[in-house]
Amino acid sequence: MGRLTNKVAIITGAASGMGEATAIMFAKEGAKVVLTDIQEEKIKDLAFKIKENGGEALAIKHNVASGEDWDIVSQEAKKSFGKIDVLINNAGITGDYTKTAETTDEAEWGKVLDINLKSIYLGVNRIIPFMKENGSGSIVNISSIAGLVGSGGPFSYTASKGGARLLSKHIAVNYGPDHIRCNSIHPGTIKTAMSEVSLSNPEILEHMLKGIPLKYVGDANDIAYACLYLASDESKYVTGSELAVDGGYTAQ
Ligand SMILES: NC(=O)c1ccc[n+]([C@@H]2O[C@H](COP(=O)([O-])OP(=O)(O)OC[C@H]3O[C@@H](n4cnc5c(N)ncnc54)[C@H](O)[C@@H]3O)[C@@H](O)[C@H]2O)c1
Repeated sequence: MGRLTNKVAIITGAASGMGEATAIMFAKEGAKVVLTDIQEEKIKDLAFKIKENGGEALAIKHNVASGEDWDIVSQEAKKSFGKIDVLINNAGITGDYTKTAETTDEAEWGKVLDINLKSIYLGVNRIIPFMKENGSGSIVNISSIAGLVGSGGPFSYTASKGGARLLSKHIAVNYGPDHIRCNSIHPGTIKTAMSEVSLSNPEILEHMLKGIPLKYVGDANDIAYACLYLASDESKYVTGSELAVDGGYTAQ
């Protein structure tokens, strides 16, 4: 038995980084995975590989900021696998790290908030009814250290990730009686496509490492393991919690 046997899990942003690592780990642990992303070819390839290895996977092109796309994802997941147990709201974008309250324009604010926060509203709005029908569910929202402290990212990114943190607690409080749990994960610096540019600059890397007590950068599987725990029934009494996976960055 895998740790997620018989569970159906939707993972957004599954084409790359943490989403991809989570999808592969979930499939190995027996979940039927619904892979969504705007990068359609990549999720189709990943679904193919998962199926080749004996897993079950469905790839759906999905812009997380679109309500119509969420309708399609929820309906297709239900049609293909009969139910929805787990939602990993992982897709996201960063922003220009030099941007402050004064230099952020409305276009950047709108784009980052739509993709990082409105996406979670749309996701839970569309998926919770299926979880209620199912009698249980686990929602995991990928926030950031930027959702815990003010030094973790650009202005609009920080706003979006802070919103993700508290929205998760609101869901936990309101849907506990429906056996729907909701938790947030707060990654620190993790080596993925998103962090590639900054991490390949030795000066930025050195500066980042100074702030990390463990003195190294995390990898996508560090987050996938946290998702696995929160998605599985091993965390059945855990809801409304915020799990920092950050090498100790926010412990200081
Ligand atoms: N890498 C880090 O250091 C770090 C730190 C803290 C938090 N995070 C968060 O982790 C999550 C995953 O990031 P990652 O590092 O794996 O990045 P990544 O860039 O490797 O993956 C992000 C994925 O999201 C997808 N995506 C972007 N916009 C989308 C949209 N509108 N609709 C659907 N999919 C979309 C991309 O195509 C990509 O596949 C993000 O929410 C990010 O903010 C990352």
